[in-house]
Amino acid sequence: MAWYEAVPPRVLLALVLTAVVSVLVFAVSELAYSDISDNRIESQRAAQAQAYVLRVREQVLAAESSQRGYLITQEDRYLAPYDKAVSAARSAQSSLLSTLGDQSPLRKDAVQLGTLLEQKLDELNVSLHMARDRQPGMALATLHTDVGLHLMAQIAMTSRKLDDELGRQFTGRSETLTRLFQQQRWGVGLVVFLNMAFLAILGTIMVRNFHEREQSRRRLKEHAEQLETAVAERTEELSALSTYLQSNAERERSSLARDLHDEFGAILTSAKLDVAWLQGNASMSPVPVQERLVQLSGALDEAVNLKRRVIENLRPSLLDHLGLAAAIQWHVQEACDRADIACDVVMPDESLQVPPHIAIDLFRLVQEALNNTVKYAQARVFEVILEQRGGDYVLCMKDDGIGIAQFQPDHLTHGLAGMQHRVRALQGHFTVQTAPGQGTRIEAVIPMVPPVTPGADAPPATASSEAGK
Ligand SMILES: Nc1ncnc2c1ncn2[C@@H]1O[C@H](COP(=O)(O)OP(=O)(O)O)[C@@H](O)[C@H]1O
Ligand SMILES: [Mg+2]
Repeated sequence: MAWYEAVPPRVLLALVLTAVVSVLVFAVSELAYSDISDNRIESQRAAQAQAYVLRVREQVLAAESSQRGYLITQEDRYLAPYDKAVSAARSAQSSLLSTLGDQSPLRKDAVQLGTLLEQKLDELNVSLHMARDRQPGMALATLHTDVGLHLMAQIAMTSRKLDDELGRQFTGRSETLTRLFQQQRWGVGLVVFLNMAFLAILGTIMVRNFHEREQSRRRLKEHAEQLETAVAERTEELSALSTYLQSNAERERSSLARDLHDEFGAILTSAKLDVAWLQGNASMSPVPVQERLVQLSGALDEAVNLKRRVIENLRPSLLDHLGLAAAIQWHVQEACDRADIACDVVMPDESLQVPPHIAIDLFRLVQEALNNTVKYAQARVFEVILEQRGGDYVLCMKDDGIGIAQFQPDHLTHGLAGMQHRVRALQGHFTVQTAPGQGTRIEAVIPMVPPVTPGADAPPATASSEAGK
């Protein structure tokens, strides 16, 4: 998933808008900056040109006044200021032209001011030369003509026009500058406002996202809890069903064993008696008949043995007749002898009474553990200890074999899972300890207080709450 897919679309939109607005404002601000700097240069130029115009007029007046002083007094001390004023006026005029440049609309007026200036300086110069050439009368007479006055008036008019125009330019530029600065201010204010708005939107979205995430987390948790409860209920139901089936099977085995013993046993006994009678009365019969009767008697003996084995497997008769301890003792001894394994059986004394529904389960546990030891363990010794510890029956079965390979306590296989289920149905604890090469030890701790188990007749659904805990 790309990063931008992880960001909510509204947040992405706000971020993009913020970026776009920032870029736009930057571009506008750059344009305004070049405008501002152009206007600043132009306004400086106007102010400078204005100063040169004033200087030209001022220096012409200074030159005229020095020339007048010389004409009247004939003193040389007026000549130096005169020369200075003339060159200052000329230099101001040429600075004015270069400051305005070739493109300025005021250039024509500036050039005209230059022409008038030169005419005026010529006029002043002529009178001065006359005075120097010892013709002071003629020189003074020039003062009486209108030429000088007229030129001065024209210079004053042209320079005032330039001054006004430049002043207007300067004011215009200043106003533009003020306006641009004002726009800049508005721009910055707008950006700040927009950014604040986007930040507020972002903040709101983030808070809302946080709440939504919290809600969906809570919903997920509730869902998980519901699932857990459902799984626990199903497990309980299955466990109750399994317990019901187990005890039902025990009951049916027991009933089958009884039928076999009572009815089939009676039939076999009567058949055996008949055969014995026939044998006793068949001494005159032909030899083949006698041989058949012997064979029949042997077959009946085999049937009786088979019946005993089947009944014993279905329901250990010793358990009913001699009690749990003797039944375990006999069964373990017999199986170990057949498998050539040494056994050690430690049983409690006769006073310990085990209720029948627990006794059959304890017996089946020993049967399965012993079966596994014989089948898989390659053991030399099998030990069983049954004892009462506090309020519990404790059954411990141990072999010194190869141990269960890749044993997983949370994933028991059928035989071991069945053992565990029997113990749990009696509200007991079941543990298996095993390691490669170190044998297997199985322990069942079952409380003596009669657990509330589903009766053989009870349907599993009603018994589910008590079973499988
Ligand atoms: N006492 C034991 N020693 C060694 N391996 C055992 C022992 N008991 C069980 N196992 C191993 O654990 C497996 C599972 O046993 P069990 O749950 O009784 O199922 P099953 O007997 O049907 O195979 C066996 O197949 C065997 O490999
Ligand atoms: Mg097994």
